[in-house]
Amino acid sequence: MTESRITVDVDAAADVLRRGGLVAFPTETVYGLGADAASSTAVRGIFAAKGRPTGHPLIVHVAAADDVDAWCAPDARQAVWLDRLAAAFWPGPLTLILPRNNRVAPEAVGDRRSIGLRVPDHPVATALLTTFGGGVAAPSANRFGRVSPTTAAHVAADLGPAVELILDGGSSRVGLESTIVELTGSAPTLLRPGGVTAAAVAEVLGVEVVDGRSGPSRASGMLASHYAPDATVSITGLDAVDREVATLTAGGANVGVIAPESVGVRPSWVLPSDADAYGHELYAALRRVDAEGLDHVLIVPPEHGDLLAAVLDRLAKAAGPRPAG
Ligand code: TXA
Ligand code: MG
Repeated sequence: MTESRITVDVDAAADVLRRGGLVAFPTETVYGLGADAASSTAVRGIFAAKGRPTGHPLIVHVAAADDVDAWCAPDARQAVWLDRLAAAFWPGPLTLILPRNNRVAPEAVGDRRSIGLRVPDHPVATALLTTFGGGVAAPSANRFGRVSPTTAAHVAADLGPAVELILDGGSSRVGLESTIVELTGSAPTLLRPGGVTAAAVAEVLGVEVVDGRSGPSRASGMLASHYAPDATVSITGLDAVDREVATLTAGGANVGVIAPESVGVRPSWVLPSDADAYGHELYAALRRVDAEGLDHVLIVPPEHGDLLAAVLDRLAKAAGPRPAG
């Protein structure tokens, strides 16, 4: 096969997984690039297709909360936390890092003793996972370090023939990657903010959630530059937009603006002022910036909403220093 195929045929996708191939599939957060989580060969294909450095662990997706037991070896305390969070937030945009058993291919977890598990909340993902019957290791279906895809067309544009089949499930409802909470230590630890807030996790568990993002980089989403478009990104406020556009334009740059209200600059994209709706549209807007061939995009963040922490996190990463080369 030389070109990836966009389809709604779940049975065909499950067959590709059984043969050890790669399938891109929709979830409520972003599209994933999936392979059989128990197969080392299949999982290696993910790293090759994404250009992702090995050692960056993948999330394993399962159909239902009950299926998690087949992959992890939680101690008593973690089992209590797991049960509570599963009941409150699964299916949904929450990934839990738990001590693992030996079922998963070591390549999928970067040789760690832990595993990231998630039950996605999307009918096509559920159908695929149920039909396949196993766990599906899947990072976001984009080239490493780039903006995650929220439609099948984004996946095709990014990965092209590297993925055999793309399941189309429309545009992802949340639009930002899942919240990641690590449950392997003495306190639940937030590794990445997302659609489930740290406050909601703390309330369900009745204990404080430690912010793990300031420590050593443990999740690839925690690297300084990630989720970045081609254009240089800077974060700014509404009142500074005109001045900054003038300065950058005078320096010869093609500049665009993404903001939660209309600014008198072209090209610009107005996103909703609520962070949840803003987050849903953000990645598509970043792709439009690149489609316009802009050198620089000024981004004004939203001000309120449950997804505010997640949006600010992704914006900071898009604006972060880029790796050399
Ligand atoms: O919403 C999402 O989470 C999407 C969809 C497809 O489910 N997936 C996603 O995958 O964003 P990815 O690979 O782009 O990000 C997975 C993150 C990485 O930052 C990785 O380091 C972290 O999860 N992770 C996975 N397993 C881990 C583990 N055992 N310990 C620590 N971090 C882990
Ligand atoms: Mg990713």
